[in-house]
Amino acid sequence: GGTTITFHPEFRVGTVDRRLFGSFVEHLGRAVYTGVYEPGHATADDHGFRQDVVELTRELGVSMVRYPGGNFVSNYDWEDGVGPVEDRKPFLDLAWRTVEPNLVGTDEFLQYCERTGIEPMMAVNLGTRGVAAAVGLLEYCNGEAGTRWADMRIANGREKPYGVKLWCLGNEMDGPWQIGHKDAHEYGKLAAEAGKAMKLVDPSIELVACGSSSMYMPTFGEWERTVLSYTYDIVDHISMHAYYEELNGDRASFLGSGTAMDRFVERVVASADAIGAQKRSDKKITISFDEWNVWYLESRFPGEENLPIQRDAPRIIEDVYSGLDAVVVGDLLVTLLNHADRIPVACLAQLVNVIAPIMTEPGGAAWRQTTFHPFAATARLAQGAALDLRVASPSMPTTKHGDVPTVTAAGTVDPGTGAVGLFVTNRTDTEQLVTLRHPGCALRIDGGTAVLADHEGPREGKESAESYVPVEVEAPEHGNGTITLRLAPESWTAFSGAV
Ligand code: AHR
Repeated sequence: GGTTITFHPEFRVGTVDRRLFGSFVEHLGRAVYTGVYEPGHATADDHGFRQDVVELTRELGVSMVRYPGGNFVSNYDWEDGVGPVEDRKPFLDLAWRTVEPNLVGTDEFLQYCERTGIEPMMAVNLGTRGVAAAVGLLEYCNGEAGTRWADMRIANGREKPYGVKLWCLGNEMDGPWQIGHKDAHEYGKLAAEAGKAMKLVDPSIELVACGSSSMYMPTFGEWERTVLSYTYDIVDHISMHAYYEELNGDRASFLGSGTAMDRFVERVVASADAIGAQKRSDKKITISFDEWNVWYLESRFPGEENLPIQRDAPRIIEDVYSGLDAVVVGDLLVTLLNHADRIPVACLAQLVNVIAPIMTEPGGAAWRQTTFHPFAATARLAQGAALDLRVASPSMPTTKHGDVPTVTAAGTVDPGTGAVGLFVTNRTDTEQLVTLRHPGCALRIDGGTAVLADHEGPREGKESAESYVPVEVEAPEHGNGTITLRLAPESWTAFSGAV
């Protein structure tokens, strides 16, 4: 038989936190320079930030942005990026072997967030720095007048504290490539001490401990267990990072990425809850999925060690996305929504130019990649409560993840307006008719927008990328208590409706 989805607006997973639609701007390649920031660009505001990029970011529906890294943060001295710009010195960032000019730093970033209505998420350096630098940066951002770092901010022209709420305790500290990489005990102790001190500066902040850089790290599991055994009472979230790509033409495994992500989430939740159980704690650690995307990491990226020292915003990891990539991004969002109870924070990595939904040319245009569309549609339609849909779907074999469902789905309902969002992926190469049952409630599905796998391959350049547009989907056939959804082959569809 085919797939059946059972829908009831009262069966809920949790509330969709708006921070689920976060993104990420790292000092890497052209994310900052000629990405968000390009003074002299025709659309730049008085602060040098490109308004064409701001417009697209708004349309994308990004709620929050993580900054300044990523691997970059682990050797970054934040003090170099504040104060009069003419006094700032360039430094050699070892993560990407790039000369960082320090023209954009903490104040420029946080003020850009304020002007655009985006919530900032900051990361502190626990690679080459430690407790004092973390505390200093937090005080610089959130402190009231009268102490050293807060007064430095005020001297730099900013009276009011920024009130940054979300803080990452380092980045991917389990990764041997990380500058200042640590084992789980070293990192766990440092994160606990930095976090303890930071909450003494500002008890209202939320802290993220580094989880594993991917589910395939050799230390995965043990890393979470050890780190949380030190930090459980201090932190609020543990991070997850995951990137997926089509390797060696294995299309089925790539299309099954959402299921791999799903299992990864369940494993991290289990690891966190095991520590909570041992501690007899009522507290639940939630997940900050602060890096996720499609990234052709293994097949296209040469590896950091091969990078020559570069300057002037080099083109690094500017992946060009296909329609198939857009389908997978949509499906990864389905997984995030289905875990809304445990994932309040997530960041599509990244925002501009670097594995990004938005691309720019220096001095030229800004445009949407294929992956822009599923993110924008989900951020717009997924409002209110995430639903506990029951999806009964045949499975398909994959080399990498074993059997995975052929159809996946997530749903939302806005309790205030009754607006419904329904997000459905067809991973098969044939059209699927899906029966949407809604016993005991009236449901109307109006139609939607779909992204289709694109057999023409990547779409390089503005014209080519912009010729990829989502397809309008007509209102489906409504029966008595059932609705029949028609899903195009290898597609992801966002339907809107109402109860
Ligand atoms: O997003 C690109 C890089 O991927 C980040 O710097 C790092 O945290 C991850 O490995």
